[in-house]
Amino acid sequence: KSTPDAGAPLLVSQGNGSVWSCASCHGDQGQGAGQTPQLAGLSQAYIIKQLQDFASGSRSNESMRYVATQLTAPEINEVAAYYARLVVPVATAAVPGTDIERGRALNLHGDWKQDIPACVTCHGEAGEGLGPMFPRLAGQQPEYLFSQLVAFKGGMRQNSPLSLMDDIAKRMSTEDMWAVSQYFGAL
Ligand code: HEM
Ligand code: HEM
Repeated sequence: KSTPDAGAPLLVSQGNGSVWSCASCHGDQGQGAGQTPQLAGLSQAYIIKQLQDFASGSRSNESMRYVATQLTAPEINEVAAYYARLVVPVATAAVPGTDIERGRALNLHGDWKQDIPACVTCHGEAGEGLGPMFPRLAGQQPEYLFSQLVAFKGGMRQNSPLSLMDDIAKRMSTEDMWAVSQYFGAL
């Protein structure tokens, strides 16, 4: 395991002679792809929390559990600071045919007929994230966002403070989860 240059993404030995870098999965700009998240622009504290959760098993993913358990606390601090200050890449357009207006409405107003609160309350006016613990959603990979809502709803992801996201996702339909994911992905 080594840091090639100050603050650059870490290399993590797989123990079989080959190495993983964060960039090998998360992209060289921290932009992510598909169900692998964009890390650029997430807050340092949120990234640290997720790495700790992967390491402790309170958030489950095999690749990330391995990576997170290989890192020391100072390395976690450093790599989290690195991604927090990376320039956020330009968002990509939503998949054609998506009900973007539904996504926008859920973000700004929620849907109180289904007890869904407005995402802006916690994720910021432009989806940029709020404070240390509420993550940026704007520009995040839409397939990743959708996968996380499905995971919160189905109980596969249980590391949200106070079960906030589990409770919200449980009230959302698949169509709503898709629309809001495409909306934030293109923001
Ligand atoms: C998720 C950091 C290496 C694949 C995450 C998250 C963080 C992170 C903070 C959660 C992001 C969020 O909640 O928005 C890192 C760092 C790495 C690293 C700092 C290097 C030290 C890797 C590697 C792979 C990988 C090598 C692939 C083998 C994934 C995947 C997820 C993820 C698939 C989503 C997990 C899920 O669906 O819950 N990573 N990562 N990461 N990472 Fe990494
Ligand atoms: C995390 C979506 C409303 C609090 C997340 C994540 C998604 C999401 C996809 C995972 C982000 C990632 O892994 O990078 C939404 C949507 C909302 C909404 C679509 C509106 C329908 C809210 C509200 C609150 C909230 C109203 C506060 C009451 C949180 C927190 C996390 C989170 C604390 C981080 C969980 C953790 O630490 O692992 N949200 N959210 N969200 N959300 Fe929301």
